[in-house]
This record gives sequence, C-alpha cells and structure tokens, in this order.
Amino acid sequence: MENTAYSIQVLLIVFLIFVAVIHNLDSTEFQKSLPAKVVWALPGMDAALPCDVTPALPGDNVTMIFWFKDTIGMPLYSLDARGGPLTKASHLAMSDDLGRRSYFIADEEPSKTRLRIQNVNRNDQGIFRCRVDFVNSPTRNFRVNLTLIEQPSRPRIFDTKGRELRPNATAGPFLEGHELFLSCQVNGGFPKPKVTWWFNNSILDGVVDSKADSHTTVNQLFISSVNRNYKGGRLECRTSASEVAPYIVREVPLNIYLKPSKVKIVTPNDLLTTGKPINIKCETSGSHPPAKLTWLLGDKPIRNAVITEEGTATFTGSILTMTVSGEDDGKILVCRADNPRFPGGTLQDRRRISVAYPPRVSVALDFGMVTPVREGTDVILRCKTSARPEAHTYYWYHDSHLIVYNASGGVLPNEDVLTIKNITQKFAGQFACSARNSEGETYSPAFDLVVQYGPRCKRGHENVRIGVIPDEDEEIMAQCVIDSAPPVTRFFWTYKTTSKGATDAFPVHGSQIENKGNVSILTFTNDIDNVKSLQCWAENDVGKQDVPCNFFIVPAERPEPPKSCLIRNASQNLGVEVSCIAGNDGGLHQSFVLEVNELNGPPPVPGIQSTLNDQASATDPSAGFRVLGEKPVFRLANLRPQKEYQAVVYAENARGRSEPPIVLPIIQVKQSDSPFLEDGEQVYEISKNIPKIGVQSLSEGSKTNLTLIIASVSALAFLLILIVAIATSVVLCRKSSSENTQVTRRNRRSSKPPSELELSEAGFGEGFHRRSALYRASMYGDCEERISRLIEGPDLILAPTSFSPQNSDY
Ligand SMILES: *[C@@H]1O[C@H](CO)[C@@H](O)[C@H](O)[C@H]1NC(C)=O
Ligand SMILES: *[C@@H]1O[C@H](CO)[C@@H](O)[C@H](O)[C@H]1NC(C)=O
Ligand SMILES: *[C@@H]1O[C@H](CO)[C@@H](O)[C@H](O)[C@H]1NC(C)=O
Ligand SMILES: *[C@@H]1O[C@H](CO)[C@@H](O)[C@H](O)[C@H]1NC(C)=O
Ligand SMILES: *[C@@H]1O[C@H](CO)[C@@H](O)[C@H](O)[C@H]1NC(C)=O
Ligand SMILES: *[C@@H]1O[C@H](CO)[C@@H](O)[C@H](O)[C@H]1NC(C)=O
Ligand SMILES: *[C@@H]1O[C@H](CO)[C@@H](O)[C@H](O)[C@H]1NC(C)=O
Repeated sequence: MENTAYSIQVLLIVFLIFVAVIHNLDSTEFQKSLPAKVVWALPGMDAALPCDVTPALPGDNVTMIFWFKDTIGMPLYSLDARGGPLTKASHLAMSDDLGRRSYFIADEEPSKTRLRIQNVNRNDQGIFRCRVDFVNSPTRNFRVNLTLIEQPSRPRIFDTKGRELRPNATAGPFLEGHELFLSCQVNGGFPKPKVTWWFNNSILDGVVDSKADSHTTVNQLFISSVNRNYKGGRLECRTSASEVAPYIVREVPLNIYLKPSKVKIVTPNDLLTTGKPINIKCETSGSHPPAKLTWLLGDKPIRNAVITEEGTATFTGSILTMTVSGEDDGKILVCRADNPRFPGGTLQDRRRISVAYPPRVSVALDFGMVTPVREGTDVILRCKTSARPEAHTYYWYHDSHLIVYNASGGVLPNEDVLTIKNITQKFAGQFACSARNSEGETYSPAFDLVVQYGPRCKRGHENVRIGVIPDEDEEIMAQCVIDSAPPVTRFFWTYKTTSKGATDAFPVHGSQIENKGNVSILTFTNDIDNVKSLQCWAENDVGKQDVPCNFFIVPAERPEPPKSCLIRNASQNLGVEVSCIAGNDGGLHQSFVLEVNELNGPPPVPGIQSTLNDQASATDPSAGFRVLGEKPVFRLANLRPQKEYQAVVYAENARGRSEPPIVLPIIQVKQSDSPFLEDGEQVYEISKNIPKIGVQSLSEGSKTNLTLIIASVSALAFLLILIVAIATSVVLCRKSSSENTQVTRRNRRSSKPPSELELSEAGFGEGFHRRSALYRASMYGDCEERISRLIEGPDLILAPTSFSPQNSDY
C-alpha cells in the first residue's frame, strides 16, 4: 500500500514537471489554448496592447520581455532588462512596418505596462503574445487580440411618417405639450454600434431599438410631452462602434411651436367713461410663432374698435381703442392670445369692465305693497336706480309737479324714498322721480298710483233740491251720482218723511231704482206730503258711504237769475262769448236764454261809405234774436259790423223766468279800418257805459200807429203807413239809443279797451235793476216785438253749433 501511494506521488511530481516544461515551450498549440484579451483600435489611431509584468514572487525582477504576433516565431519586440531595472532595459524591435510603429511603455505601475502601436491599420490586426521572463518567477504569457473598429455610417433621421430629414433640416414643427418622435438610424459598424439621443449634453434615450443581428442600428426617440426648453435647441443623434471611438453626431435643430404662456390686459381696470374713445392694452408673450390678439366684449367681437399691434419674436402687444356705452357696464372684456399655428393654443385674460352711465330710473311701490292702494294707508314709493357712479340728488314728481316736503300734509320725500302718510284720492295719478350722477340726470317713466276710496257724492251732487209743483202728481227723478274707485257695487236709498219722526230714515224698496255704474236713478211719483228728503248710499269694495247724497223735496220755484256774467272775445276771433254762472234752479230743470237786439246804429263816420248801413236799417231794422242753452254760455258769431247790440240773459224753468233779466253792456261790432288788417275782420267793442234806456213813451205812440195800420184795408195805404211806421220806429229807436248810449270808438292802434269786462250784480246796484226791468218791459214787450212783427221776422234761434256748450259746471 505504501509503495502504491509513493508511486502516485512520484507520478504527480513527474506530471507537474512535465506541465512546467510544456508551459515553458513556445508551442503554437499551447498558445491557441490561452484566452486572448480583445483590444479595439481605430484605424489610424494608436493602440495599446497591455502586458502585466508584475512578478508572481515579491522582490523578483523581470529579465526579458518578448512580443510575438500571430504565429510568427521571431519576436516583434523584445526588452532586455537583465542588466538593471525595466526602465533602463534595452529595446529591440523588428525592422518592419509594424516594428517601427511599436514602442514598449514601461509604466511605474508594472500592471500598466503596454506595447503602443501607432497609426494602426487593418494589417495590424491579429493575436499578439507577450512573454515575460523573471529572475525567479516562472515565465508568463499574455495574449491580446487586436481588432480594428469599423465606425457605422452617418446617422440618418426619420420622422414619424418615415420620411427622412434632409441634412441640416430642422425637425418639426412639434407642438408644446404634445409628443415628439424621431428615429435615428445607422448602418454597419463593428462592433455593433451604439446609437443614442442627446439634448443639451444629456442623454435622452440610450436604448437601441433594432435587433442585435441587423445590419442597421436604430434608436427611436419618443418624448410624450415636449416642453418649452426644447424651443430653439438641437437634438443630437450620436453613434459610435466603441467607447474608444469618437461619436459620429447628427444634430437635429428643432422647430417647436409654443402656446402663449402669458396674456394680460395691462391697463388698470378703471371706471370707463362713455362716449369717448378709450385705450386698453393687452400683452402676450411666450408664443411661437407670435400670437395674434383678439378682443371680445360680452362674448362678441368688438365692432368699431381700432386695434394697434406691436410685437417681437415671442411678444405681442395690442392696444384696443374703443368707445363704450352704458350698456357695456358689467360686461366681460376678453383679450385672447391665439397661436394661429397651434390648434388650441389659446390663452385669454378677462376682466369685468365698469362703465359710467347715467342713472336708469324707475318708480316702484315699496316691497309688499301693491297698487291700487286704499285711501288712508301709508304709501312708500321707491326710486329705483341703477347707475355708475351711484346716483344721488333725487326729486319726486306727482302729475309733473315737483313734490316738496310737507310734514303736516304727510308728504315726506327723502332721497330715493317717498312716503305719503294717510294717502288720499288726490294723490292718485302719475308719480315719477329723477336721479342724477356725474353722467347726467334721468327721469323715470310714470308710475300710475291708483288710490281706492269708498263711495262719496260726486262734487256738486251732495245736496240736491228737487222742486215739485204743489198739487201736481208728476213723476220725479232723483239722480244720485257717486264718485268711487273701484266702482260702486251696491246702491241703497232711504227716505225721511214729514209725518213720522223727522230723524227716522226708512229704506226705499222697489223697482223704481235704476243703477248704472256710479249713478243710481230713483223715480217716484210726487208724494210731497210725506217724503221730505231722500238719501242715496253707495257701497264698493273699500266700504260703505259715510255721508249720503241728499235729495230735498221742495216746492218748485222760478230759477234765480244767472250770476257773474262776462262778455269776452271768443277764441279764434269767432265773435263774442257770453258766459254766466247758473243760479239756483228752483228745484226744477232750468235752461238759459240770451236775447240780443241791435240798437240804432250810430251816424255814419265821415269818410266811410255807409250805404250798407242804410240799406240794412231800411230792410232789417230790428235784427234781434234769442239763443237758448242748457248752460249759461253763449257765443254770438254773426254780429254785423258798425252795429251796437244790447243783450240780456235769464234762466227759465217750468215755473217761469228768473227775474229780473241780467242786462249786459252794449256790444259794438266794428269793421276794421286798418289797411293792414285783412278784409272783413271784425272788431268787437263792449261799452263800459251802462245804457240808459227810456223808450216807454215811444212805444205808446207806436201802439196807436199800429192800431191804425191794422184797421186799414187799402194795400197802398197799408204799405205807405207801414213804411212810415218802420221809418218812425227805426228813427225813434235809434235816436233813443244814440242819445242814451255813449259809444266809444277806438282805433286799434290806440289804447286798447279792457279785454274782458265783468259785470257782477253787486256792481250794478239797485237802480240798475229797476231801470233794466223798465227797459226790458218796453223793449221786449213793445218796441222790438212790434218792429219784428212788422217785418214779420221770426225770433232767430241759433243752431246748437253756433254757441259753445261748456263742460264746466255752472
Ligand atoms: C532585483 O534587483 C534589485 C535592484 O536592482 C536587487 O536589489 C535584487 O537583489 C534583485 N533581486 C533578485 C532576486 O535578483
Ligand atoms: C479577435 O477578436 C475578435 C472580436 O471578438 C474576433 O471576431 C476574432 O475572431 C478574434 N481573432 C482571433 C484570431 O481569435
Ligand atoms: C449644413 O450645415 C453646415 C454647417 O452649418 C454646412 O457647412 C453645410 O453645407 C450644410 N449642408 C447642407 C446640405 O445645407
Ligand atoms: C442645458 O443645460 C444647462 C446645464 O444643465 C442649462 O443651464 C441650460 O439651460 C440647458 N439648456 C437648455 C436649452 O435646456
Ligand atoms: C302741506 O299740506 C297741507 C295739507 O295738505 C296743506 O294744507 C299745506 O298747504 C301744505 N303746505 C305746503 C307748504 O305745501
Ligand atoms: C265710477 O267712478 C270712478 C271714479 O270716479 C271711475 O274711476 C269709474 O270709472 C266710475 N265707474 C263708472 C262705471 O262710471
Ligand atoms: C276784442 O278783440 C278786439 C280785437 O281783436 C279788441 O279791439 C277788443 O278790445 C276786444 N274786446 C274785448 C272785450 O276783449
């Protein structure tokens, strides 16, 4: 057993020695089995073939170094360091091309020693072997595979559609925030080249997207969202087959479209004034290509605006010049920056503008109040304004009259609030207010305030006397006229009698009551012994009437004479107007009579043709007429020029005439003698003088004449006597009037007479009344009547159109 173990030991030692011998042999087979370190070199550049000369044993020294190439037995390069340190060793190189370009570099660091080959070429490729001999350590061999690098082709760039970018062409345009895709492609290259994308010296994409075995190498760059930093920059596609080889770089300038990054209306948001052009400036920046600015007001393009633009590569300014109106107040002004090349590349600045405008005013009832309002309530009206700047200085108007503060009357205007305490019907009507600010003053539209009130007698209908003629069973009508708002809903009549208790009122029943709106008519047969008075009561939605309308049954009387008669020129030069105030009607319906008589004309004025006058007096000496009217207002249109007229007025009812008649001043009609006035214009003059009339004696004489004329049977005699009688009457009548009347003639250019002459009863006195009664008796009983009968002229009753009925109450 021991022999066997010993022989194995011997065998192992023999084997180790053999291995060591083999190791020292420079056999080709042996070399091939060693791994070779690959050294890449660029053609034309230097290559460094490493050889580690670190001794295996410390303190040992290198003696010899040999470089062999491929299978060539002769060393390419040798170092003899037997005589000293490696740095002082003697170099020996082969004298061929490779040998001349080779030099062994002994570094301080033994592991870094290397053989440098300058300007390598394709023939230099191959397996190099470095053999290092030491003093004590065993010889060491290193194998180096020198391979030349093959750079790939220049990169080609393709866009997303596969189109190749021309050299130097810019890529894009790409949109900010959107994706970017570019593909870089190289052909060939050994070893397999790297293709990388760079921007601003930092790597964006280092991953090759092509297959390892393909001839082309591709790197596709995808950026999901391009940011502003890429603007104006260049992408680089770099490629290289090896780290030791420089990059082949393809620059790709980028064209990036940018959205506007900022837009601002820079003009301060001040209160704008209407009517004059204002400038508003808007600025935008950050857009590429430069943005267009547009203006909108209230979502609509601004018409009649002037826009001034300025701009640089990325900045755009726009000055809007426009004129605003009050309606624009509160609208949104928008400045919109739009990159025309960038779909959706829009940015806007908006502001609410304030425009000064005059107040807009309206009147409304205070909250919670509605029209119509009831009498007695407190009403608050508000002047509602919308104005910029705020409205101030309010005024209130009622039916176009300024309302003044009146605490006792309960009218309290206070700025924009009008309070009316305890309102009455007189405040019904149109309210308006006005308000003012720096832009002007505005009046509100009218606000109709309807004031409702309980029924009451219409003015003038409170107490009505109904006259009855005793002992006549006539039908009597009581007409109750009510003033109420809203209209009357119910009427109610009561009566009081003389027989029963004077204060007791009894309801009237029956069908003899007829109601029509605000009027109720009660018809009854006169029963004067019993009925003393009637009361009419009305009711509406507001309430019941407080005080009834009274109808007093009284014995009918003749009417009172009309009062306060006036004569004045009628409007539009249409003759003369006589108007009086009606007196008491005596309890019956009254009408009015105006009787007019022409007086004897004055003697002809020298120089003026008077043939017309003479003829008139000859053919129509009386010219008297009566005018009837429901109201004591009359118009006399066709009075003849150069004549004087006497007029009297009285009232009439079923019981008779008013006594005495009212005698009016003399009316004179003048033909205009001014050459400057149009032909036919008439001038009426009213004498101030009270006529003195005394014609009684004349009328006595005339009567005898009249008897004689009636007795006569001869036609000739009748005619003659008639002529004589007429002539006599006329002369006498005229004479009396011209004697007793002072006629004033006035030139139109001289001092004018009073335009209106009031003849009140008081002014005439008692004497006048007596005289006027005399006058009337003579005139109407005899002189005028007689003359008119003589010429068989009937009383002239003017048609209703010839006098003007007036609506006012008399
Ligand atoms: C190596 O060289 C150094 C100095 O040249 C010497 O001191 C040393 O003895 C040498 N070593 C051997 C094993 O010869
Ligand atoms: C040297 O290395 C290159 C690259 O690895 C290889 O292609 C070539 O075959 C090697 N040469 C030898 C002789 O091994
Ligand atoms: C590309 O640009 C370079 C340098 O800017 C210039 O020298 C070259 O002529 C350009 N090539 C083409 C095709 O425009
Ligand atoms: C490029 O990089 C430098 C340093 O990081 C930086 O200051 C510069 O702004 C960058 N340029 C662009 C266009 O991104
Ligand atoms: C105030 O109102 C009362 C009652 O309506 C009226 O009598 C008075 O005249 C008014 N005063 C003024 C100054 O209008
Ligand atoms: C009743 O009188 C009121 C107020 O005067 C008026 O508004 C209304 O129209 C009248 N109604 C009728 C039917 O006359
Ligand atoms: C009537 O008008 C005339 C002229 O138009 C004038 O001369 C005369 O005085 C007026 N009379 C009265 C009473 O106003």
